[in-house]
Amino acid sequence: MDDEQMNHLKKEISEKIAMLEEERIRYLEDAKRVEGEKRYVENELIRLQKEVRILKAELERLKQPPMIIGTVRDLLASGKVIVRSTTGPDFIVDVSQDVDRRSLKVGSRVSLNKQSLAVMEVLPPSIDPIVSGAEVIEKPSVSYDDIGGLRDELRELREAVEDPLMRPEVYKKVGIEPPKAVLLEGPPGTGKTLMAKAVATQTNATFIRVVGSELVQKYIGEGARLVREMFELAREKSPSIVFIDELDSVGAKRIDMATSGDREVQRTLMQLLAEMDGFNPLGDVKIIGATNRPDILDEALLRPGRFDRIITIPPPDYGARLDIFAIHTKKMNLHKDVSFEELAAITDGASGADIRAICTEAGMYTIREKRVKVKMVDFRRAVDKVIGNMDYTEKEAGLMFG
Ligand SMILES: Nc1ncnc2c1ncn2[C@@H]1O[C@H](COP(=O)(O)OP(=O)(O)OP(=O)(O)O)[C@@H](O)[C@H]1O
Ligand SMILES: [Mg+2]
Repeated sequence: MDDEQMNHLKKEISEKIAMLEEERIRYLEDAKRVEGEKRYVENELIRLQKEVRILKAELERLKQPPMIIGTVRDLLASGKVIVRSTTGPDFIVDVSQDVDRRSLKVGSRVSLNKQSLAVMEVLPPSIDPIVSGAEVIEKPSVSYDDIGGLRDELRELREAVEDPLMRPEVYKKVGIEPPKAVLLEGPPGTGKTLMAKAVATQTNATFIRVVGSELVQKYIGEGARLVREMFELAREKSPSIVFIDELDSVGAKRIDMATSGDREVQRTLMQLLAEMDGFNPLGDVKIIGATNRPDILDEALLRPGRFDRIITIPPPDYGARLDIFAIHTKKMNLHKDVSFEELAAITDGASGADIRAICTEAGMYTIREKRVKVKMVDFRRAVDKVIGNMDYTEKEAGLMFG
C-alpha cells in the first residue's frame, strides 16, 4: 500500500466516523423527544383518569334517588326524630351521622332519604312560603274580643266572608250572589290586619296570608307565579280565605310603565285579576284585601266580580278608644286612678296602633320610676309622647279618611 492509498483510506474512515457521530446525535435527539412525548402522554393519562373519576362520581350522584323535603315535628329522647314530609303522615326516623344535631330543631326543614326517610341534611329555612305550603297557612290567635269598636265592620266582614263559605245555602235560598272579595280600607293602624286575622281564627276555613309588598319585593320576577300558586293552594285546601295585605303595593294604578320593576308589579296584578275572574262567587275561596291607600288602587280591582264589597275601617271614635284601652291594658297592673274615659277623651285622632303604643309607653315610664302599678300620670306622659310625635303623614292619612 502506498502513501496515497493510505491517505485515501484514512480519509474514508474519518468520514465514516463523522457520519456515525452525526447519526448518534440524531438518535440521541430522537430519544430525548420521545422521552418528552412519553412524559406528556403519561400526564395526559393521569388527567384523563382524574376526569373519569369525577364523571363517575357525578354519574353516581345523578343516579341517586331524589330526597324528600320534610319538616321536623319533634325530637325524641332516643335520638330519633318525628318528621312530616310535605305530603302524607308523620314518621319516626333516624338521623344521618353527618347531620349536626344542634342545627336540628322542631320546625327545621330537612331532606329525607327516599327509602328510609332518614334525615340527611338540615336545609336553610324556606324563602318561598308558597312552595313549602304550610307556612302561608296560618291560624293566628286573634279573637273578636281583641278588637275594640268596629262591631258593624266586623259583622259586615263576617257576613261577606264567613257565611258564603260555611252556609252557602242561605245565599242560594234568597237567590243572591255573595261578594267574591272584600276590601278593607282605612288609615294605618286601625285594625284591618287584626280583623282579617280574627276572622281567620274564628272560621274553620284555611287561611292563606300574603303581603303585597313581599310579593313584589321579595320574590322579584316570581310575583305572578306566586299569585297563581297561592290560588291553586287555596282551591286545594278549600274552603279557604286568601288574605292579601297591603294590596296597594300590587294593585296600584297602572301608569306608563317606566321601569322593569313596574312591569313586574303589573304582571302580578294581571295574574291576580285573572285568578279573581276564574272562580265563582259561591265557590270555596274568599278573598280579603286590605289597604290604607284605596286612592291609588287600580279601578280594575274594584269592578264588580272582583273586590266588589268595600268596608271602610274608620279611625276609632270615643267609644272604640275606650274599648281599645281596655283591651290593651287587660294584662297591665293599673293604679286605681287610671281613667279610660279621660284617656279616650284626650286621644282624639289616635289609631288603635297608637293606643297600643301608649299603653306600652306608660308601662315603660312606670318601670323607669321603679313602680309596679301604672298610674294616670304615666299614661298622660305616654299620650304626649306618642301623639305629640305623630308625624305629618299619619295626620294627613287621618284627615284623608276622617
Ligand atoms: N280596633 C282595634 N282594637 C284593638 N287593637 C287595635 C285596633 N286597631 C289597631 N289595634 C292595634 O294596633 C295594631 C296594628 O293594627 P293593624 O295591623 O290591624 O293595623 P292595620 O289597619 O292593618 O294598619 P296598616 O294599614 O298600617 O297595615 C294591632 O296589632 C293592635 O294591637
Ligand atoms: Mg295591616
